[in-house]
This record gives sequence, structure tokens and C-alpha cells, in this order.
Amino acid sequence: MKLTAKEYHLRTSYDRRLMSGHVLDWASQPKVFKTYPGLKTVPLPPVTEWGKAPLSQVLQEPIPARPETEIDRERLARILRLAEALTAKSRIGGADFYFRSVASAGALYPFELYVGTSNVPELEDALYHYTLSLDALTVLRQGNILADLAQGIDLDMTAPPVLVFFLTSIFFRSSWKYRERSYRYDLLDTGHLAEGLALALKESGTPFRLQYDFDDRKVNELLGLDEIREVCLAVAFAFGNNSPSSADALHLGEPAEGLSASSRVAAREIDHPTVREIHAASSALTPSAPSLPDMMDNLVPERGEARTIAPPARWPEEMSYVEAVSRRRSMRNFMSRELDADRFAALVRMLCAGPTDAANAQPLAGTTIAVGILVGNVEGVDPGFYLIDPELCAIHLVRGSSLTGEMARVCLEQEWLRNSAVEFLFLSNLGLLDRVWGPRGYRHALLSAGRLGQRIYLAATSMRLGCCGIGAYYDNEAAALLRLTEEARLLYLVAVGPVRKWTGA
Ligand SMILES: Cc1cc2nc3c(=O)[nH]c(=O)nc-3n(C[C@H](O)[C@H](O)[C@H](O)COP(=O)(O)O)c2cc1C
Repeated sequence: MKLTAKEYHLRTSYDRRLMSGHVLDWASQPKVFKTYPGLKTVPLPPVTEWGKAPLSQVLQEPIPARPETEIDRERLARILRLAEALTAKSRIGGADFYFRSVASAGALYPFELYVGTSNVPELEDALYHYTLSLDALTVLRQGNILADLAQGIDLDMTAPPVLVFFLTSIFFRSSWKYRERSYRYDLLDTGHLAEGLALALKESGTPFRLQYDFDDRKVNELLGLDEIREVCLAVAFAFGNNSPSSADALHLGEPAEGLSASSRVAAREIDHPTVREIHAASSALTPSAPSLPDMMDNLVPERGEARTIAPPARWPEEMSYVEAVSRRRSMRNFMSRELDADRFAALVRMLCAGPTDAANAQPLAGTTIAVGILVGNVEGVDPGFYLIDPELCAIHLVRGSSLTGEMARVCLEQEWLRNSAVEFLFLSNLGLLDRVWGPRGYRHALLSAGRLGQRIYLAATSMRLGCCGIGAYYDNEAAALLRLTEEARLLYLVAVGPVRKWTGA
């Protein structure tokens, strides 16, 4: 029998009576940067001018329906550097450690980013790895990716993409610490990167489509991954007016020798079979259900009337989106101070901003997940648990009492959470997920939650608020605290609020 999303989630739930102290094996600490020794690298050009628009504006810009401009090397460099960047350095255990624009549970950074290019001027068509430690592209396979890719993904060859991004995750990087629970973090963290990429594409005015469904085996093979260790979780297509005209005539060359060896990240890697099992179970593609239930209707017995959250009178951002990307960090020094109504509205509005083009068919919320908020200390909003309707940008009261203190206890006694002004909750009904979407729906749910998590981090950074993602909580206690229906569970939580000293990167 294949593992279901619900079984995996329950099997990897934390229970305060059953927590065993896990001692990290520092001798097998995974490498956080992937490199391909001996392969050719191509430097990326500098970006001549960065955009000044704040995140709220980037989110509101409609995605162009048709590609009007060419994607050149500089645009590619800009997109990659905004999708993921090294932002801060510190000394940990006698070695340099780099923090990134993308948040990651335990700073383990399981994700990697690849790009296949077609017809980008002055860049050889090839499949590349974005080698972050070098800020360069490593050539994995020469030639054009499109015809080979079409065997694993439904591609419209009449309007082929210029760039195809692949977002992968290396299991051992996070299972080293989080063991069988780590698949959750592989998905959440990769979702964070996916939002980094989606916003970068949007900022550069590039039409794109993000997709979580494809033939796993074919895509992993194309990337030269050792799929026991590293797997593709999301793909993004970017369109320019320089797409190749006869894509089907183009093919990739043979993969460079020994590509798959680079998926190994430690000399001794411990296998966590449940991670492989849920990934294999979720390899079957999501069936297209005739009518999709709204997740918000399947989480709590009842909810109150909708209260619309109007846009703030003045957007309270204090820096551009580009600056927010480079300054984003987790902050836990929350202080017990009210979050003003404008910044609260800005957070909710930015969270509700969806794809503004139907072709961008990866809806953020309302399908495999719903988003809730625990309001602790917000001007003009009573403390309580609310659900967000992303279409109306409205909140519905579910439980009218302050729960942030109790939530801190449920989140493995992370007491600092008690002082956060608001906590965003990503929720799903796992039984419904399995029945309607199958286990692949679990990937959709956690990737979407991660995407919104990254967006909240950037929105909070833009307003000099503290922010921290929380993946560690006693699962059943969280469900009980929120009085969720039997099969509904919390997937992820992101806390936001004023902090004692704002210390962005
Ligand atoms: C999915 C996810 C889960 C996380 N869970 C926790 C958590 O339970 N407790 C915590 O203090 N930080 C948590 N974090 C924050 C990370 O530890 C943090 O992103 C990482 O250490 C990198 O630091 P930075 O965000 O300052 O760059 C989480 C982050 C993510 C993306």
C-alpha cells in the first residue's frame, strides 16, 4: 500500500510525550553548496540597475500575457540573483557560514536551482546549474532542453519558453537533522525558493508559469540527479520574444560524466525510508478533479462573517523589494507591542495578491491549503483565530481569544513566539487532500505554504518587522488548540511583529 499524505503527516508528527533527544552527527554534516568539480562554468554579467519598486507594487503588477521583450543574459542574471542570494556571513564552528535571501528550516538549504536556456543571446543553449557559491552557471549538458523536456512535461511547443528553471531538493541536507519529518521541510523550503523565483520573474516583467506536476523520473534523469538523494519538486517556465522557432529539432547532448555523484552531500549519509516512501507515493500526478472543494470550508466547524481588510491608506514599506531580498533574516526578538492597522493590512493584502493572469495556473491559496491568522496584538482587530479568504481579502473569526501564548507552548515551548503580534497559519485537511488530489497534493500544499511563507518574510522585512517561520510544533496539540476538524492539520506557521532591535542582513 502506498503511503498517503495523511499517514506521512501523522507518522512524522511531534508528540511531547515521545520526543527523543536527537544528537546530530557532526562528522556527517551535509555540504550546503553543490559544486561540480571539473565542469565548465560561465560567469554571469553584472546587473546595471536594480529596480526600486516596493514588494506591494511588484505583487500588483499584472503578469504580461505575451512576452514583449527579449530575455538576455543580464535578465537571467538578475532573475537568478533575486531568486536566491548569499546575504550575510558569520563564523560558525570555526568556518565561514553564509545566510541566504531564502529562509530554510535549520539553515540547511536543501534546495538547488537549475536552468535550461534556449536562444539567450551570447549564451550557449544548455542545461546549467546555478552554482550559488560561485555566482556562476555550471554547464551540465550542452544543447537545447526543450524536445527532451517535452517527454516529461506537457509543453506547448508553439510558444516555447526561453528559460526553464528546475527546483530540486537534496534529502540528506535536511534529514540529517529532521530525519523522517524532513520531507515537510524539503517542500516548505523549496516553496520558499519558488516564491523567490516567482517574484524575481515578476519584478523583471517576464511572463512565467510555475508548475508542480511533471513526470518525476524523466525530469530527474534529464537533470542528471541521483534520484535516491535529490529530486525535482517544481519547474518554472519563462517566456521572452526570443523563444526558438523550431523547438522540436533541438536536443540536449549527453550529460557530463558523473553528474549524479554531485547529489551526494556527505561521506556517510543515513537513509530515511519514510522520506523516500512519501516522495515515491506522491510521484503519481494530481488528478484533475471536476470541481475543487475550497479548503477553507473543510477545516473548522464554523466561521464568522467576512470582514474585508482594505488596502492601507499609504503602503507602509520602508525599502524596495530588491533591498528586502538582500536584508531578509529571521528575527525572534519580538516585543509586546501593537502592530498598527496599516502594516497589518499591508501584510494581509500582500498575502492575498494572487497570480493576475490565468495562465499562471498555480493558485496560492484556497485549494490545497487555506491560510489562517492568530491575531495577538493588532490595532483595531480583536485577538483570535481567523481564516483568510484570499479572493475577498477578508478575515473570518473562528475563535475569539488570544492564542499566541498557548501556541508558543505548542511550538516546542519557543517562548519568544508569545510576543509576536500575528502568526500566519497554513492549514490543510489531509484526508480531503488525499481523496481529491492524491499524495501529490501534499507537495502542492507544502510548496504553496512555503511560497507564502517567503512572501510574508519579504513583506515583514520591507516594513522593518520581525519574522520567523516555525516548522516545529506538537502537531496534535496545534490541531486541538485551533479546534480543527478531525483530518485537518497545521502545516506551517510564520510569526510577525515589532521587534526590540531590527537587525536585517
Ligand atoms: C520551513 C521553516 C521552518 C522553520 N522553523 C523554525 C522553528 O521552528 N524555529 C525557529 O526558531 N526558526 C525556524 N525557522 C527559521 C530558520 O531557522 C531560518 O530561516 C534559518 O536559520 C536561516 O536564517 P535566516 O532566516 O535568518 O536567514 C524555520 C524556517 C523555515 C523556512
